[in-house]
Amino acid sequence: MSPPAGIIIDTDPGIDDAIAILMALAGSPQGDLAHQVIGLTTVGGNVPLARATRNALAVLDAAGRPDIPVHRGSSRPLAGRFGYSFAFHGNTGLPGRLPKPQAGHANQRAAEFLAQRLRASPGEITLVALGPLTNLARLMQRHPGVLELAGSVCVMGGAVNSPGNVTPHAEFNFYSDPMAADMVLSSTVQLTLVDLGASRQVALSRRQVSALKGGNRMGEMAIRLLQDWFRLDQGRDQFQFYDPLALAASMDSQMAGVRQMTLQVETQDQERLGESKVVRPGGNVAVPERVDGVRFFAMLNRLFGWDGLDPENLL
Ligand code: BDR
Ligand code: CA
Repeated sequence: MSPPAGIIIDTDPGIDDAIAILMALAGSPQGDLAHQVIGLTTVGGNVPLARATRNALAVLDAAGRPDIPVHRGSSRPLAGRFGYSFAFHGNTGLPGRLPKPQAGHANQRAAEFLAQRLRASPGEITLVALGPLTNLARLMQRHPGVLELAGSVCVMGGAVNSPGNVTPHAEFNFYSDPMAADMVLSSTVQLTLVDLGASRQVALSRRQVSALKGGNRMGEMAIRLLQDWFRLDQGRDQFQFYDPLALAASMDSQMAGVRQMTLQVETQDQERLGESKVVRPGGNVAVPERVDGVRFFAMLNRLFGWDGLDPENLL
């Protein structure tokens, strides 16, 4: 029997990574091959690799899915070191506390797991990358041509025609490993790039998050994460759904109108490191321009069983 096809999430949890993982689990009934989560691969980024791996395991455990394997990837970018983002995500990378995970990580490393699964189900795996692109770049280096076997690739990263969030030019995931981002984007791999300009179109205010209630197991966890995130800093007024939008776009091609382009990522100029540079219109990268916010929040309501959020009346 061939292994089931489904979604692999490459991630550095991170609160918005955690919410994206919960969305995928909520849309992943046993046996539903379209949305089955077949594994997570972790990468340093928001937090060190060991903490990202532990957080991924803790989210799966608390969601009742400790059976899903977690494969550790890169603890460093292709060059240099990661600069973590505890100030945004909290001291452990997740606001609030999740119980200690019971399951451990798998022995097989991320790039090897990705290569094995992509080769086993050519054209059938959805790959969603929510952190620095180091694991995907390592896969390309060690197994040339295998990333192309993915049925679809959706990446959260970059700031195309919009200001960055780490520097005026760069978004966090691309800034964390510009060489990896450039290697993936400059390849021939067809991918959807949910950048900051797209993510900023789907946000909830402190008041809207405090009104959320109800929910299935994953939905309750997501509400707790969001409310705890606002509690970490009274100055916060809005949560932007970066990684959840990438997950949503991978599950629903109608989530946004896209424009195809050819992109490169700045790897040399220190001031502009990680900048997303449009080389020309047309090409392998689909960048969402107009996001359907009503559709996105309706998806959250549906997956999480939330009450208290009316997608038609968010403004
Ligand atoms: C990206 O950076 C991280 O902090 C988030 O998890 C998201 O993947 C947004 O710039
Ligand atoms: Ca992330």
